[in-house]
Amino acid sequence: MGEDIKRAWYKEMAVYQVWPRSFCDGNGDGIGDLKGILSKLDYIKSLGVDAIWFSPLYKSPQKDYGYDIADYRDIAPEYGTMDDFKAVLNGAHERGLRVIMDLVVNHTSDQHQWFLESKKGDDNPYHDYYYWRKGKSHGRKPNNWMSTFGGDAWEYDAGLDEYYLHLFAKEQPDLNMDNPKVREEVKDIMRFWLDMGVDGFREDVITFISKDEGLPSSPYWFPIGTGIEHYVHGPHLDEYLMEFKNDVLSKYDCMTVGEAPMMTPKKALMHIKEGPGQQLNMMFHFQHMEADCMFVSWVKLPFNLKKLKKVYTNWQHQLYGKAWNALYIENHDQPRIVNRYGSLEYREQSAKMLAVMYMCQSGTPFVYQGQEIGMTNNALPDINMYEDISTKNVYGIASKIFGKKKAMELAHYASRDNGRTPVQWSDAPNAGFTTAEKPWFYINPNYKQINVAAQENDPDSILNFYRKLIKFRKEHDVCIYGTYEEHYHESSNLFCYSRYLDGKKMLVVCSFTDKAVAFNAPEGFDLAAGQLVLNNYNTTGIINNGFTMRPYETRVYLWE
Ligand code: NOJ
Repeated sequence: MGEDIKRAWYKEMAVYQVWPRSFCDGNGDGIGDLKGILSKLDYIKSLGVDAIWFSPLYKSPQKDYGYDIADYRDIAPEYGTMDDFKAVLNGAHERGLRVIMDLVVNHTSDQHQWFLESKKGDDNPYHDYYYWRKGKSHGRKPNNWMSTFGGDAWEYDAGLDEYYLHLFAKEQPDLNMDNPKVREEVKDIMRFWLDMGVDGFREDVITFISKDEGLPSSPYWFPIGTGIEHYVHGPHLDEYLMEFKNDVLSKYDCMTVGEAPMMTPKKALMHIKEGPGQQLNMMFHFQHMEADCMFVSWVKLPFNLKKLKKVYTNWQHQLYGKAWNALYIENHDQPRIVNRYGSLEYREQSAKMLAVMYMCQSGTPFVYQGQEIGMTNNALPDINMYEDISTKNVYGIASKIFGKKKAMELAHYASRDNGRTPVQWSDAPNAGFTTAEKPWFYINPNYKQINVAAQENDPDSILNFYRKLIKFRKEHDVCIYGTYEEHYHESSNLFCYSRYLDGKKMLVVCSFTDKAVAFNAPEGFDLAAGQLVLNNYNTTGIINNGFTMRPYETRVYLWE
């Protein structure tokens, strides 16, 4: 293997993300839980993945479905007990699956003991755990920042006559990471879970933890997130991440992936570049999730393949040999990918094509629950049927700007709830997700057609395609460690790239259109001499070292 690239287990793994509330209900109360997860460990293993990332399982009032933690060392009662968690942890380990926990330390729940204490007075030892500030004259807030969920980022507390900062919901007060005691708490939480045997963390909005000194107001105004330039990549981020690494993470065989909104490759390298200064193993950036929108899917634009390719190629080139990419196309914050970058008409073809498109790049692939069967968005007719706090807030703002009809259309496209409907296990009542009469959230009515059981029995299903793809990647170093080269950069219909390692090469071609497109292999690739290893149509002829690509067709050729 080339000298500039080092092997590591976290580079070779594929990860499955579980959003517990909607994964599987094991006790019949309508809510997904740890018993349900335990019952599905064999299923997760059968996908060929190597690790599970659990969205928060901790005790929480669930205002932001677990991203508001009330106790970092306890399990939410609706999900089970600590013993249930340990059973899942052991069960996963017995099957060779690592376990990655969500570490949410930019903020806590307003029901966390620290926050309840901090409200008691300026002299309370926990007061400085959070950003408490006096208002300005004439009842003005401490600054003009706005929450990334919409509305002000400050909430008034009459008892203290002070405001506290919350970059997300008002029930999610921001922790003051500048306070060394808070950083000690974070490190203790990390040790608690690592000592129990977990294998790493996905660190929630970790790049927001350091705010500009003095919390200055922003000269810019946006309906959501005003002030973001003052904390998106703050002055002490480096220092705090390094401290977590040196004092805790470096002492364990663990991995970290940091969630990093508005991240660029250049800035990412400051934190994930391999070597003594490395703070995190990988970062979840968002640039590739902006090919159909501006920053968030609520600001919708037509899908633009060239924009998508540019982002991917940039990250592939800038990180290669220096750092490692985290690859994903769905998670619990994103609408379903076939609705966005694929096609409902060609759901099966486009789901498979999108899987190939991102998983054959260099990086660690993450698969979100339901993605592997091509689940789709579920448009609910009434905003009151939505559960997600940010959907409700942003809808409120959007309906003032665009009117209710348009705002509802946007919610159908952009709501995080699209990715949070219960997993469709079978065509049994409630999609086999729960035996309760009523699940906690609406199940997508298409579960009779789209479900795991049906796809298990179909060798050509999306599910079995994912299995094949994950296995292929794992068995071929060229797919994991190879260099990357993009072809036909100017095409607005085709994404084509190749990977090279130790004399081996592979060619990946993906069509993003429902029209027929002519494809000729780039120079140096003799298709007839290669092995067709993955494809999403049954007939796969070649004419003159090329072929006419059918709607959303994908093929992967390998030369060994
Ligand atoms: C990112 C998480 O993925 C999202 O679900 C959550 O609402 C925010 N961070 C706040 O924790």
